[in-house]
Amino acid sequence: MKLLVIGSGGREHAMAWRLARSPRVQTVYVAPGNGGTARASQIQNVALSEIDDLIDFARKEKIAYTVVGPEAPLAAGIVDAFQAAGLKIFGPIREAAQLESSKDYAKAFMVRHAIPTAGYATFTDPEAAHRHIDEQGAPIVVKADGLAAGKGVVVATTVEEAHAAIDDMLGKGSFGQAGARVVIEEFLEGEEASFIVMCDGHNVLPLATSQDHKRLLDGDRGPNTGGMGAYSPAPVISPALHNRIMREVINPTIVGMARDGVPYCGFLYAGLMIGPGPDATRTLKVLEFNCRMGDPETQPIMMRIKSDFSETLELAIAGRLNEADIEWDRRTALGVVLAAANYPATPRTGDTISRLAQDTDDCVIFHAGTRLDNGILKTSGGRVLCVTALGDSLKRAQATAYEAIVRTHFEGQQYRRDIGWRALPNATAGQAPAAE
Ligand code: AMP
Ligand code: GLY
Repeated sequence: MKLLVIGSGGREHAMAWRLARSPRVQTVYVAPGNGGTARASQIQNVALSEIDDLIDFARKEKIAYTVVGPEAPLAAGIVDAFQAAGLKIFGPIREAAQLESSKDYAKAFMVRHAIPTAGYATFTDPEAAHRHIDEQGAPIVVKADGLAAGKGVVVATTVEEAHAAIDDMLGKGSFGQAGARVVIEEFLEGEEASFIVMCDGHNVLPLATSQDHKRLLDGDRGPNTGGMGAYSPAPVISPALHNRIMREVINPTIVGMARDGVPYCGFLYAGLMIGPGPDATRTLKVLEFNCRMGDPETQPIMMRIKSDFSETLELAIAGRLNEADIEWDRRTALGVVLAAANYPATPRTGDTISRLAQDTDDCVIFHAGTRLDNGILKTSGGRVLCVTALGDSLKRAQATAYEAIVRTHFEGQQYRRDIGWRALPNATAGQAPAAE
């Protein structure tokens, strides 16, 4: 069968790569794809982005089903449009995608259904927002209500920073409509983890756990980014905590959406903050919901799937996830992002990728911001590559990934040398791995 994946990032390359390995799958089309998907066997790029054009393509090519990678097409209603056209697609409808596309919707939903999250208040009036910040003090978190490509969150350590964020969003309108409403949130401390599940409206299938690295620099310093690396599984999520997350967060969310008349179908990503202490009592709060898989979390997760993922998606679309099971590679997978010069502020594009390590059974280089220019691979975005390796231990996976990076090069590349540090014994932020 033929499948269609929507998007152009490392997440979509990894999904297409996994699906293309299924003996049932003839071709995976990726719209619009990137330089990596352009070169892969059994994967083809399609230069389309308008929903109507994608529907025409899916009909003409008799696509068995479509999977959506990023949030923007989901928030624009791509699932509603495909379903109205009688086409199979995996993802939430526009209304359900508000769990990500409106922080205010997500917070009100969580309060309504007693799902643990940071205390908050929503504002459109700058004066009221400034007053609230003065009352609450710092640290405090200011979030643009709408989609802001990962840039709409300011974790303010001083009240001055928080006031500046309000001036930026509500005063200057730096985020346009997305920032015309802001959520001001209590600051939470702890360790973050990504918990991603598949839902068919009623049944839930959890994927392997993972952990992202949001900051640009070693030791979790520097500006927030879309994610500089990830690994799976995340040992912080013990079996006991896994049960609590299902019981306290995931199940109430799925039941709550169905009760609200918006059954949730698609990937659901809960970004969690896990407080210190024993698993039975440590605090567990939702930082955010995403209505899609994470990037770069998807890359290590896809490396670990051993069963046929095309079957899992088919069952999910049919509302039969209760019959699905995924066989996971017991090894650890770890992905290191190579980002462009000046990422995340103003990433430089157009650099030639002069060296690229060969993919092997246990190390695959997923592309994100790359394009093929007359047969030459060039950088075309902030996050360029994600070098993802499997290993019997996290240390082995780390060593394999960093060895492949030595054989990969483009001008201005930046990457963290400490991906996976939290999962190492005696973890210290910024600790460099063995390979350089
Ligand atoms: P979000 O897009 O809501 O996940 O926020 C981006 C990042 O900001 C998160 O991954 C956290 O590192 C941080 N963050 C968000 N909300 C909070 C909070 N209430 N307390 C502390 N850090 C937060
Ligand atoms: N890696 C974080 C995200 O995809 O939102």
